[in-house]
Amino acid sequence: MQTLIKNGHIVTATDDYVADILINDEIIVAIGKNLNVRADKVIDAAGKLVMPGGIDPHVHLDMPFMGTFSSDSYETGTRAALFGGTTSVIDFILQKQGNSLQSAFDEWNGRANGTAYGDYSFHMAVTDFNESTRSEIKNMVDAGVTSFKAFMAYKGALMLDDKQLVGLLEEVKKQGGLVNVHATNGEMIDYLIAKHKSEGKLAPLYHYLSQPEVTEAEASGRFTDLANYTGCPGYIVHLTCEGALNAVRERTQKNQKVFVETCIQYLLLDASLYEQNFEGAKWVMSPPLREKKDQETLWAGINQNLVQVVATDHCPFFWEQKLMGKEDFSKIPNGHPAIENRYELLFSEGVTKGRITPNKFVEVISTNAAKIFGMFPKKGTIAVGSDADIVIFDPNETHTISAKTHHMNVDYSGYEGWQVNGKVKTVLLRGQVAIDNNECLIPKGYGQFIKRGKVKQII
Ligand code: URP
Ligand code: ZN
Ligand code: ZN
Repeated sequence: MQTLIKNGHIVTATDDYVADILINDEIIVAIGKNLNVRADKVIDAAGKLVMPGGIDPHVHLDMPFMGTFSSDSYETGTRAALFGGTTSVIDFILQKQGNSLQSAFDEWNGRANGTAYGDYSFHMAVTDFNESTRSEIKNMVDAGVTSFKAFMAYKGALMLDDKQLVGLLEEVKKQGGLVNVHATNGEMIDYLIAKHKSEGKLAPLYHYLSQPEVTEAEASGRFTDLANYTGCPGYIVHLTCEGALNAVRERTQKNQKVFVETCIQYLLLDASLYEQNFEGAKWVMSPPLREKKDQETLWAGINQNLVQVVATDHCPFFWEQKLMGKEDFSKIPNGHPAIENRYELLFSEGVTKGRITPNKFVEVISTNAAKIFGMFPKKGTIAVGSDADIVIFDPNETHTISAKTHHMNVDYSGYEGWQVNGKVKTVLLRGQVAIDNNECLIPKGYGQFIKRGKVKQII
């Protein structure tokens, strides 16, 4: 089956030009001006932007967490992602303490295989690093799971101590992988949560006040130092604030290197949302939202190449689930929905408002994640030989975000009523039109596991 996309304005991380794209089955086979071929399907993209499908390397689908499960499954989550222009996700799969990495891999494979609409891969969250876990790292890398997550927080549940963290870094380095980290000081956060609770301070605001900037700045610096000591490529997930970015900045000046991800919410929302009694639970996530000055630092960090990826940390919970913490902020399931909104929000707030260029948009929404996580150039760009994961985007169409119209399996939106400039019109996933005219045209189970390569790209 041949598909021809005509006259689109192609934007990649480096290029910006008008041309046609010819797709043979799943793969881009030619790009050029006025391609003279008879294709089975012709899509007119004149006046539209044609960009790589988004890659969201930080999502939590159907994840057991804080006594419940995140409410989007592989089926609903990857479908919603496609509606929002994201064609591939990397989900965090969790080792259960006392269990093997293989058992987590098998469990999540069972959830995703045959149910996902979009393509997916896994990061392995190591919650119990011991000699048996160490011996499994190589098998995971060989299976295409080349990134390993460490939590420096969630004490008593997911947290690794520094001894385990250094062991993990050493082994992952040896096997050619990368360690992603939730970098906040779990001991200090635990202390502050207990202190606030003992003082009867139980509202969502105290979730925010239990995770001050220093908890993130300290752990981000510590992680970078440990990663560099071991020589293991490191990646800080969901970095939110000036203090943490400055800890990284300081180390880059000493020739240390760590990749940094922020998430769309930290660029757009701020901690004033916690001041409205329990309603603030909608944005209870870890780390919490920060201040306006932090947003400015993050936008600048993107343009300074200190922040390479904008993800979502999509971890949705129904309002009913958030109510588990009505009387105690520490019981509110942490996370918020965004998988469907990231691409359009970043374009609207970033490109349309002149904060980032269209090329930078493509870099942080897709290309850099593909490079860092061993999927490039199969994913993350529009080039001959790449998977035809393509978004046809109208930069001039405006619309309003609402839980009434979104496709995520959750009954509120963190961005209710936001006006967005730019709309995902058509999405191709491996050559198939997956989304067109607000309809999903591929069957459940079309999504494939992405077996990722060893980490070799230095960006
Ligand atoms: O609040 C969050 N971030 N929930 C998901 C788990 C994590 O820390 O990424
Ligand atoms: Zn986290
Ligand atoms: Zn997360």
